[in-house]
Amino acid sequence: MNVLILGSGGREHAFAWKIAQSNKLKNLYIGPGNGGTRLLGVNVALNPNDFIQVKEFVLNNQVNLVVVGPEDPLVNGIQDFFMNDNDLKSVHLIGPDKNGALLEGSKEYAKGFMFKNKIPTAKYQSFTKNNVDQANSFFESLKPPYVLKADGLAAGKGVIILNDINKAKATLNEMLDGKFGQASKIVVIEEFLKGIEVSVFVITDGDTYKILPEAKDYKKIGVGDTGLNTGGMGAISPVPFVNNIFLNKVEERIIKPTIEGLKKENIEYKGFLFFGLMNVDGEPYLIEYNVRMGDPETEVVFPRIKNDILELLIATANKELGNIKLDIDDRTVCTVMLVSGGYPEAYEKNKAISNLGNEPDNIVFHAGTKYENNMYLTNGGRVLSVTSYGTNIEQSLNRSFQIANKISFEGKYFRNDIGFDLK
Ligand code: AMP
Ligand code: GLY
Repeated sequence: MNVLILGSGGREHAFAWKIAQSNKLKNLYIGPGNGGTRLLGVNVALNPNDFIQVKEFVLNNQVNLVVVGPEDPLVNGIQDFFMNDNDLKSVHLIGPDKNGALLEGSKEYAKGFMFKNKIPTAKYQSFTKNNVDQANSFFESLKPPYVLKADGLAAGKGVIILNDINKAKATLNEMLDGKFGQASKIVVIEEFLKGIEVSVFVITDGDTYKILPEAKDYKKIGVGDTGLNTGGMGAISPVPFVNNIFLNKVEERIIKPTIEGLKKENIEYKGFLFFGLMNVDGEPYLIEYNVRMGDPETEVVFPRIKNDILELLIATANKELGNIKLDIDDRTVCTVMLVSGGYPEAYEKNKAISNLGNEPDNIVFHAGTKYENNMYLTNGGRVLSVTSYGTNIEQSLNRSFQIANKISFEGKYFRNDIGFDLK
Protein backbone atom coordinates (compact mmCIF):
# COMPACT_ATOMS: atom_id res chain seq x y z
CA MET A 1 0.00 0.00 0.00
CA ASN A 2 0.98 3.63 -0.42
CA VAL A 3 1.33 5.63 2.78
CA LEU A 4 1.61 9.36 3.44
CA ILE A 5 2.89 10.62 6.79
CA LEU A 6 2.10 14.27 7.57
CA GLY A 7 4.62 16.19 9.67
CA SER A 8 8.32 16.93 9.87
CA GLY A 9 9.71 16.09 13.30
CA GLY A 10 11.39 13.28 15.16
CA ARG A 11 8.00 11.66 15.72
CA GLU A 12 7.40 11.51 11.97
CA HIS A 13 10.90 10.11 11.35
CA ALA A 14 10.12 7.37 13.89
CA PHE A 15 6.78 6.69 12.13
CA ALA A 16 8.62 6.48 8.80
CA TRP A 17 11.34 4.21 10.22
CA LYS A 18 8.72 1.79 11.53
CA ILE A 19 6.40 1.91 8.50
CA ALA A 20 9.36 1.37 6.15
CA GLN A 21 9.89 -2.04 7.82
CA SER A 22 6.42 -3.30 6.88
CA ASN A 23 6.17 -5.75 4.02
CA LYS A 24 2.74 -4.28 3.27
CA LEU A 25 4.37 -1.03 2.17
CA LYS A 26 4.74 -0.10 -1.47
CA ASN A 27 5.50 3.64 -1.52
CA LEU A 28 6.14 5.88 1.46
CA TYR A 29 5.73 9.64 1.27
CA ILE A 30 6.42 12.15 4.03
CA GLY A 31 4.96 15.64 3.80
CA PRO A 32 7.03 17.67 4.33
CA GLY A 33 9.42 15.33 6.20
CA ASN A 34 13.03 16.18 7.10
CA GLY A 35 16.63 15.24 6.37
CA GLY A 36 16.18 11.84 7.98
CA THR A 37 12.89 10.78 6.41
CA ARG A 38 14.27 11.24 2.88
CA LEU A 39 16.24 8.01 3.29
CA LEU A 40 13.07 6.02 4.04
CA GLY A 41 10.66 7.44 1.49
CA VAL A 42 9.99 10.45 -0.67
CA ASN A 43 9.77 13.84 1.03
CA VAL A 44 7.01 15.92 -0.52
CA ALA A 45 6.66 19.68 -0.10
CA LEU A 46 3.22 19.56 1.54
CA ASN A 47 1.67 21.76 4.19
CA PRO A 48 -0.31 19.39 6.48
CA ASN A 49 -2.86 22.15 7.08
CA ASP A 50 -3.53 22.74 3.39
CA PHE A 51 -6.14 20.01 2.95
CA ILE A 52 -6.72 20.72 -0.76
CA GLN A 53 -3.01 20.29 -1.45
CA VAL A 54 -2.97 17.07 0.60
CA LYS A 55 -6.03 15.80 -1.30
CA GLU A 56 -4.42 16.39 -4.68
CA PHE A 57 -1.29 14.56 -3.64
CA VAL A 58 -3.25 11.63 -2.18
CA LEU A 59 -5.33 11.21 -5.35
CA ASN A 60 -2.44 11.68 -7.77
CA ASN A 61 -0.30 9.12 -5.97
CA GLN A 62 -2.96 6.54 -5.02
CA VAL A 63 -2.24 6.95 -1.32
CA ASN A 64 -4.23 4.38 0.71
CA LEU A 65 -3.34 5.46 4.22
CA VAL A 66 -2.56 8.86 5.75
CA VAL A 67 -0.92 9.02 9.19
CA VAL A 68 -1.19 12.44 10.81
CA GLY A 69 1.71 13.33 13.14
CA PRO A 70 0.93 16.75 14.68
CA GLU A 71 -2.28 17.92 16.35
CA ASP A 72 -3.15 21.02 14.36
CA PRO A 73 -4.43 19.36 11.16
CA LEU A 74 -6.62 17.15 13.39
CA VAL A 75 -7.94 20.09 15.39
CA ASN A 76 -8.55 21.86 12.06
CA GLY A 77 -10.63 18.89 10.86
CA ILE A 78 -8.54 16.88 8.39
CA GLN A 79 -10.42 13.67 9.30
CA ASP A 80 -13.78 15.38 8.66
CA PHE A 81 -12.43 16.74 5.36
CA PHE A 82 -11.49 13.20 4.25
CA MET A 83 -14.78 11.64 5.38
CA ASN A 84 -16.91 14.28 3.68
CA ASP A 85 -15.10 14.15 0.35
CA ASN A 86 -16.40 11.55 -2.12
CA ASP A 87 -12.97 11.04 -3.68
CA LEU A 88 -11.24 10.58 -0.32
CA LYS A 89 -13.82 8.46 1.49
CA SER A 90 -12.00 5.21 0.76
CA VAL A 91 -8.63 6.56 1.93
CA HIS A 92 -7.86 5.65 5.54
CA LEU A 93 -6.70 8.48 7.76
CA ILE A 94 -5.34 7.78 11.24
CA GLY A 95 -6.45 10.48 13.65
CA PRO A 96 -9.67 11.67 15.31
CA ASP A 97 -12.23 13.96 13.74
CA LYS A 98 -12.68 17.55 14.86
CA ASN A 99 -14.92 16.59 17.79
CA GLY A 100 -12.46 13.99 19.04
CA ALA A 101 -9.57 16.40 18.57
CA LEU A 102 -11.26 18.84 20.98
CA LEU A 103 -9.75 16.71 23.75
CA GLU A 104 -6.51 18.49 22.88
CA GLY A 105 -7.85 21.55 21.06
CA SER A 106 -9.79 22.88 24.06
CA LYS A 107 -8.55 22.47 27.63
CA GLU A 108 -11.95 23.59 28.90
CA TYR A 109 -13.70 20.90 26.85
CA ALA A 110 -11.18 18.29 28.01
CA LYS A 111 -11.65 19.17 31.68
CA GLY A 112 -15.45 19.06 31.27
CA PHE A 113 -15.10 15.64 29.61
CA MET A 114 -12.92 14.36 32.46
CA PHE A 115 -15.37 15.51 35.13
CA LYS A 116 -18.38 14.18 33.23
CA ASN A 117 -16.69 10.79 33.00
CA LYS A 118 -15.39 10.83 36.59
CA ILE A 119 -11.77 10.69 35.51
CA PRO A 120 -9.38 11.76 38.28
CA THR A 121 -7.90 15.18 37.47
CA ALA A 122 -7.06 18.48 39.15
CA LYS A 123 -10.06 20.57 40.15
CA TYR A 124 -10.53 23.61 37.92
CA GLN A 125 -12.62 26.56 36.85
CA SER A 126 -12.55 28.34 33.54
CA PHE A 127 -12.76 32.07 32.99
CA THR A 128 -13.46 34.55 30.23
CA LYS A 129 -13.63 38.35 30.35
CA ASN A 130 -17.26 37.97 31.35
CA ASN A 131 -16.71 36.13 34.63
CA VAL A 132 -13.16 37.19 35.52
CA ASP A 133 -14.47 38.91 38.67
CA GLN A 134 -15.14 35.44 40.09
CA ALA A 135 -11.51 34.36 39.61
CA ASN A 136 -10.27 35.94 42.85
CA SER A 137 -12.32 33.69 45.08
CA PHE A 138 -11.24 30.62 43.09
CA PHE A 139 -7.57 31.62 43.38
CA GLU A 140 -8.02 32.09 47.10
CA SER A 141 -9.53 28.63 47.47
CA LEU A 142 -6.34 27.09 45.99
CA LYS A 143 -2.91 26.60 47.49
CA PRO A 144 0.09 27.84 45.45
CA PRO A 145 1.49 27.22 42.92
CA TYR A 146 -1.29 28.29 40.54
CA VAL A 147 -1.70 26.65 37.14
CA LEU A 148 -3.11 28.79 34.29
CA LYS A 149 -3.84 27.26 30.90
CA ALA A 150 -4.85 28.86 27.62
CA ASP A 151 -7.89 26.96 26.40
CA GLY A 152 -6.73 26.58 22.79
CA LEU A 153 -3.58 25.40 21.04
CA ALA A 154 -0.62 27.64 21.92
CA ALA A 155 2.33 25.72 20.44
CA GLY A 156 3.06 24.05 23.78
CA LYS A 157 3.52 27.41 25.54
CA GLY A 158 0.01 27.96 26.90
CA VAL A 159 0.56 26.65 30.45
CA ILE A 160 1.90 29.07 33.07
CA ILE A 161 2.64 28.00 36.66
CA LEU A 162 3.16 30.74 39.25
CA ASN A 163 3.79 30.80 43.00
CA ASP A 164 2.63 34.34 43.65
CA ILE A 165 -1.14 34.83 43.77
CA ASN A 166 -0.94 38.46 42.63
CA LYS A 167 1.21 37.52 39.66
CA ALA A 168 -1.26 34.75 38.88
CA LYS A 169 -4.17 37.20 38.93
CA ALA A 170 -2.29 39.65 36.70
CA THR A 171 -1.32 36.86 34.29
CA LEU A 172 -4.93 35.73 34.05
CA ASN A 173 -5.85 39.22 32.86
CA GLU A 174 -2.95 39.30 30.37
CA MET A 175 -4.05 35.96 28.99
CA LEU A 176 -7.67 37.03 28.63
CA ASP A 177 -6.40 40.20 26.92
CA GLY A 178 -4.86 38.02 24.21
CA LYS A 179 -1.39 36.97 25.43
CA PHE A 180 -1.86 33.82 23.33
CA GLY A 181 -4.27 35.37 20.83
CA GLN A 182 -7.60 33.57 20.44
CA ALA A 183 -6.19 30.55 22.32
CA SER A 184 -6.35 32.40 25.66
CA LYS A 185 -9.77 34.04 25.32
CA ILE A 186 -10.79 31.28 27.72
CA VAL A 187 -8.38 30.36 30.54
CA VAL A 188 -8.53 27.26 32.71
CA ILE A 189 -7.19 27.66 36.23
CA GLU A 190 -6.48 24.49 38.13
CA GLU A 191 -5.15 22.98 41.27
CA PHE A 192 -1.44 22.06 41.18
CA LEU A 193 -0.76 18.34 41.36
CA LYS A 194 2.50 17.30 42.96
CA GLY A 195 4.02 14.12 41.67
CA ILE A 196 5.99 12.58 38.86
CA GLU A 197 4.78 12.74 35.26
CA VAL A 198 4.41 9.86 32.84
CA SER A 199 2.90 9.52 29.37
CA VAL A 200 0.65 6.60 28.47
CA PHE A 201 -0.50 6.01 24.90
CA VAL A 202 -3.28 3.99 23.36
CA ILE A 203 -4.30 3.33 19.82
CA THR A 204 -8.05 2.96 19.45
CA ASP A 205 -10.43 2.07 16.64
CA GLY A 206 -13.34 3.65 18.51
CA ASP A 207 -14.50 0.30 19.91
CA THR A 208 -11.49 -1.20 21.53
CA TYR A 209 -7.95 -0.06 22.28
CA LYS A 210 -4.41 -1.29 22.78
CA ILE A 211 -2.12 0.22 25.40
CA LEU A 212 1.28 1.03 23.89
CA PRO A 213 4.49 1.19 25.95
CA GLU A 214 4.53 4.11 28.39
CA ALA A 215 7.29 6.73 28.44
CA LYS A 216 8.70 9.49 30.58
CA ASP A 217 9.51 12.76 28.87
CA TYR A 218 11.91 15.46 30.12
CA LYS A 219 10.34 18.81 29.27
CA LYS A 220 12.66 21.37 30.85
CA ILE A 221 15.69 22.73 29.02
CA GLY A 222 18.06 22.60 32.01
CA VAL A 223 19.80 19.87 33.96
CA GLY A 224 17.78 18.78 37.01
CA ASP A 225 14.47 19.76 35.35
CA THR A 226 15.15 23.48 35.54
CA GLY A 227 14.56 26.43 33.21
CA LEU A 228 12.09 26.88 30.40
CA ASN A 229 9.73 24.27 29.02
CA THR A 230 10.63 22.73 25.67
CA GLY A 231 8.91 20.31 23.33
CA GLY A 232 10.85 17.56 25.14
CA MET A 233 14.58 16.98 25.72
CA GLY A 234 14.58 13.21 26.03
CA ALA A 235 12.48 10.21 26.93
CA ILE A 236 12.70 6.72 28.41
CA SER A 237 10.53 3.63 28.07
CA PRO A 238 9.61 1.56 30.05
CA VAL A 239 9.20 3.65 33.19
CA PRO A 240 10.08 1.64 36.32
CA PHE A 241 7.26 2.95 38.54
CA VAL A 242 4.63 2.05 35.94
CA ASN A 243 4.11 -1.45 37.32
CA ASN A 244 1.01 -3.59 36.81
CA ILE A 245 -0.75 -2.09 39.82
CA PHE A 246 -0.29 1.48 38.58
CA LEU A 247 -1.09 0.59 34.97
CA ASN A 248 -4.23 -1.20 36.08
CA LYS A 249 -5.40 1.95 37.89
CA VAL A 250 -4.67 3.99 34.76
CA GLU A 251 -6.66 1.60 32.61
CA GLU A 252 -9.68 1.31 34.92
CA ARG A 253 -9.91 4.94 36.07
CA ILE A 254 -8.68 6.82 33.02
CA ILE A 255 -8.44 4.85 29.76
CA LYS A 256 -11.70 2.89 29.92
CA PRO A 257 -13.85 5.88 31.01
CA THR A 258 -12.29 7.93 28.21
CA ILE A 259 -13.08 5.38 25.49
CA GLU A 260 -16.59 4.90 26.90
CA GLY A 261 -17.04 8.68 27.21
CA LEU A 262 -16.14 9.15 23.54
CA LYS A 263 -18.73 6.54 22.57
CA LYS A 264 -21.37 8.30 24.67
CA GLU A 265 -20.65 11.51 22.76
CA ASN A 266 -20.95 9.56 19.47
CA ILE A 267 -17.36 10.41 18.63
CA GLU A 268 -15.81 7.69 16.50
CA TYR A 269 -12.18 8.04 17.46
CA LYS A 270 -9.68 6.20 15.28
CA GLY A 271 -6.13 7.05 16.16
CA PHE A 272 -3.59 7.61 18.87
CA LEU A 273 -4.58 9.04 22.23
CA PHE A 274 -1.91 10.31 24.61
CA PHE A 275 -2.65 10.52 28.34
CA GLY A 276 -0.38 13.00 30.16
CA LEU A 277 -0.50 11.68 33.72
CA MET A 278 0.72 12.69 37.14
CA ASN A 279 1.56 9.93 39.59
CA VAL A 280 0.54 11.41 42.95
CA ASP A 281 1.70 8.96 45.63
CA GLY A 282 0.85 5.97 43.44
CA GLU A 283 -2.50 7.34 42.25
CA PRO A 284 -2.79 8.43 38.59
CA TYR A 285 -4.34 11.79 37.72
CA LEU A 286 -4.93 12.95 34.18
CA ILE A 287 -3.29 16.28 33.39
CA GLU A 288 -4.07 16.41 29.71
CA TYR A 289 -5.03 14.57 26.56
CA ASN A 290 -3.14 14.84 23.30
CA VAL A 291 -4.83 13.44 20.23
CA ARG A 292 -1.61 12.22 18.64
CA MET A 293 1.62 10.52 19.63
CA GLY A 294 4.16 12.46 21.69
CA ASP A 295 7.48 13.81 20.54
CA PRO A 296 10.06 12.64 21.70
CA GLU A 297 8.04 9.79 23.25
CA THR A 298 7.42 8.19 19.83
CA GLU A 299 11.18 7.88 19.39
CA VAL A 300 11.24 5.45 22.34
CA VAL A 301 7.76 3.90 22.09
CA PHE A 302 7.84 2.86 18.42
CA PRO A 303 11.23 1.13 18.68
CA ARG A 304 9.66 -1.13 21.34
CA ILE A 305 6.69 -2.21 19.19
CA LYS A 306 7.59 -5.42 17.37
CA ASN A 307 4.34 -5.75 15.38
CA ASP A 308 4.07 -4.80 11.74
CA ILE A 309 2.88 -1.23 12.28
CA LEU A 310 0.85 -1.13 9.06
CA GLU A 311 -1.11 -4.17 10.25
CA LEU A 312 -1.88 -2.26 13.44
CA LEU A 313 -2.88 0.92 11.58
CA ILE A 314 -5.06 -0.89 9.05
CA ALA A 315 -6.79 -2.80 11.85
CA THR A 316 -7.44 0.57 13.52
CA ALA A 317 -8.96 2.00 10.35
CA ASN A 318 -11.12 -1.13 9.82
CA LYS A 319 -12.23 -1.37 13.45
CA GLU A 320 -10.49 -4.72 13.82
CA LEU A 321 -8.02 -3.80 16.53
CA GLY A 322 -9.48 -6.53 18.74
CA ASN A 323 -7.78 -9.11 16.50
CA ILE A 324 -4.30 -7.72 17.11
CA LYS A 325 -1.97 -8.88 19.84
CA LEU A 326 0.77 -6.41 20.66
CA ASP A 327 4.29 -7.73 20.84
CA ILE A 328 6.56 -5.44 22.87
CA ASP A 329 10.35 -5.47 23.12
CA ASP A 330 11.24 -5.68 26.80
CA ARG A 331 14.53 -3.85 26.42
CA THR A 332 14.85 -0.27 27.65
CA VAL A 333 14.87 2.44 25.01
CA CYS A 334 15.92 6.01 25.69
CA THR A 335 16.32 9.07 23.53
CA VAL A 336 18.44 12.17 24.06
CA MET A 337 17.51 15.28 22.11
CA LEU A 338 20.25 17.41 20.57
CA VAL A 339 19.04 20.98 20.27
CA SER A 340 20.24 24.25 18.77
CA GLY A 341 21.96 26.72 21.13
CA GLY A 342 19.39 29.21 22.46
CA TYR A 343 16.39 26.86 22.15
CA PRO A 344 13.59 27.12 23.33
CA GLU A 345 14.16 30.84 22.76
CA ALA A 346 15.81 32.30 19.64
CA TYR A 347 18.30 30.02 17.87
CA GLU A 348 20.09 29.87 14.54
CA LYS A 349 19.52 27.39 11.72
CA ASN A 350 21.60 26.07 8.81
CA LYS A 351 24.51 24.74 10.85
CA ALA A 352 26.33 21.83 9.20
CA ILE A 353 25.93 18.53 11.06
CA SER A 354 28.81 16.03 11.07
CA ASN A 355 29.61 12.58 12.48
CA LEU A 356 26.14 11.23 11.87
CA GLY A 357 27.26 7.61 11.88
CA ASN A 358 25.12 4.59 12.73
CA GLU A 359 26.06 2.45 15.69
CA PRO A 360 24.65 -0.90 16.83
CA ASP A 361 21.48 -0.71 18.97
CA ASN A 362 21.09 2.93 18.07
CA ILE A 363 18.90 5.02 15.76
CA VAL A 364 19.45 8.72 15.19
CA PHE A 365 16.04 10.19 14.41
CA HIS A 366 16.06 13.56 12.71
CA ALA A 367 13.82 16.20 14.28
CA GLY A 368 14.79 19.53 12.71
CA THR A 369 17.17 18.86 9.84
CA LYS A 370 17.29 19.28 6.10
CA TYR A 371 19.55 17.92 3.40
CA GLU A 372 21.04 20.44 0.97
CA ASN A 373 24.13 20.34 -1.26
CA ASN A 374 25.04 16.87 0.02
CA MET A 375 25.00 18.08 3.61
CA TYR A 376 22.75 17.76 6.63
CA LEU A 377 21.90 21.14 8.14
CA THR A 378 20.08 22.10 11.31
CA ASN A 379 16.58 23.33 10.57
CA GLY A 380 14.85 23.68 13.95
CA GLY A 381 15.26 23.99 17.70
CA ARG A 382 15.16 20.28 18.31
CA VAL A 383 17.62 18.82 15.78
CA LEU A 384 18.30 15.12 16.41
CA SER A 385 16.80 12.52 18.71
CA VAL A 386 19.47 9.97 19.62
CA THR A 387 17.69 6.73 20.51
CA SER A 388 19.37 3.62 21.92
CA TYR A 389 18.35 0.19 23.15
CA GLY A 390 19.85 -1.29 26.30
CA THR A 391 19.32 -4.04 28.80
CA ASN A 392 18.64 -1.33 31.40
CA ILE A 393 18.29 2.45 31.67
CA GLU A 394 21.98 2.99 32.34
CA GLN A 395 23.16 1.04 29.31
CA SER A 396 20.73 2.62 26.89
CA LEU A 397 21.51 6.12 28.18
CA ASN A 398 25.26 5.59 28.02
CA ARG A 399 24.95 4.57 24.38
CA SER A 400 22.93 7.68 23.55
CA PHE A 401 25.23 10.02 25.49
CA GLN A 402 28.28 8.60 23.71
CA ILE A 403 26.73 9.20 20.31
CA ALA A 404 25.38 12.60 21.38
CA ASN A 405 28.93 13.61 22.23
CA LYS A 406 30.27 12.46 18.86
CA ILE A 407 27.74 14.21 16.62
CA SER A 408 28.69 17.82 16.07
CA PHE A 409 27.10 21.05 14.94
CA GLU A 410 27.69 24.63 16.08
CA GLY A 411 25.71 25.40 19.25
CA LYS A 412 24.82 21.76 20.01
CA TYR A 413 23.28 21.29 23.46
CA PHE A 414 21.74 18.28 25.18
CA ARG A 415 20.74 17.37 28.69
CA ASN A 416 23.28 14.93 30.07
CA ASP A 417 21.01 13.94 32.94
CA ILE A 418 18.05 12.38 31.12
CA GLY A 419 16.71 9.59 33.35
CA PHE A 420 18.34 11.05 36.49
CA ASP A 421 15.17 10.49 38.51
CA LEU A 422 14.61 6.90 37.41
CA LYS A 423 17.96 5.31 38.19
P1 AMP B 1 0.34 20.73 29.30
O1 AMP B 1 0.60 21.73 28.21
O2 AMP B 1 -1.08 20.59 29.71
O3 AMP B 1 1.09 19.46 29.04
O4 AMP B 1 1.08 21.28 30.58
C1 AMP B 1 2.45 21.53 30.54
C2 AMP B 1 3.09 21.05 31.81
O5 AMP B 1 2.60 21.79 32.91
C3 AMP B 1 2.77 19.61 32.16
O6 AMP B 1 3.57 18.71 31.50
C4 AMP B 1 3.01 19.62 33.65
O7 AMP B 1 4.39 19.53 33.91
C5 AMP B 1 2.55 20.97 34.05
N1 AMP B 1 1.18 20.92 34.57
C6 AMP B 1 0.03 21.10 33.87
N2 AMP B 1 -1.04 21.00 34.66
C7 AMP B 1 -0.57 20.76 35.91
C8 AMP B 1 -1.19 20.56 37.18
N3 AMP B 1 -2.50 20.64 37.36
N4 AMP B 1 -0.39 20.33 38.24
C9 AMP B 1 0.95 20.29 38.09
N5 AMP B 1 1.59 20.49 36.93
C10 AMP B 1 0.85 20.71 35.85
N1 GLY C 1 6.43 15.45 24.53
C1 GLY C 1 5.17 16.00 24.81
C2 GLY C 1 4.28 16.13 23.64
O1 GLY C 1 4.50 15.56 22.60
O2 GLY C 1 3.29 16.84 23.78
